[in-house]
Amino acid sequence: MKHLIAPSLLAADFTHLAKAVELVNDSQADWFHLDVMDGRFVPNISFGMFIIKQIKAIAKKPLDVHLMILEPEKYIEQFAEAGADVITVHYEACPHIHRTIAQIQATGAKAGVAINPGTPVSVLEDVLEDLDMVLLMSVNPGYGGQRFIYRTINKVQALKEQLAIRNLDKLIEIDGGVGLQNAEALLKVGADVLVAGSSVFKADDPVKAIERLKEIGKGSLLV
Ligand code: DX5
Ligand code: ZN
Repeated sequence: MKHLIAPSLLAADFTHLAKAVELVNDSQADWFHLDVMDGRFVPNISFGMFIIKQIKAIAKKPLDVHLMILEPEKYIEQFAEAGADVITVHYEACPHIHRTIAQIQATGAKAGVAINPGTPVSVLEDVLEDLDMVLLMSVNPGYGGQRFIYRTINKVQALKEQLAIRNLDKLIEIDGGVGLQNAEALLKVGADVLVAGSSVFKADDPVKAIERLKEIGKGSLLV
């Protein structure tokens, strides 16, 4: 499968949010990545369904909603109604992860499960068949612009192997510190979706930055 690029709007200029949405609409990006933070599961607060609903009204690509919140099961229907196409919850925030995956899928959205850098891939063993996507955090969640943790490459490899052994076709998404400096290595070991915040929106030319991330593997990468 050709890899997907999901720019994270967290790194965009929120005084010109519509402009950032249009930029992604008109780029080669595949999804919008939307980071919801509650100030409890992570030390930062971002935005919620109110903003997501407004983004949905002008977005021309799927919304990939990353819930970095405690008790996400309380809000899943609301995020689905706001327009989320993929809803990802954190394994660390869900004591009943099997039930929460089913709850997400019942809304019609795809279900993602995220794990923090300190959580091993093996905890997902008993839900790998049920979920649609695994999000491997390559930074500790809470902020954009952090440094990529290289051990994530091994985790992608381990997860990819597990999926292959069990003949499962699930998406692997990587989030945090992703840019041209590590994207190729991630894709080589089996990543399917790359989230990119700062490497896109802090670039001089965000559209070009997306294009470059998209072109990796085509053999035409001009860095
Ligand atoms: C981190 C968020 C990320 C973040 C990525 O907690 O989940 O999606 O926005 O931003 P960069 O690419 O700047 O690390
Ligand atoms: Zn995210």
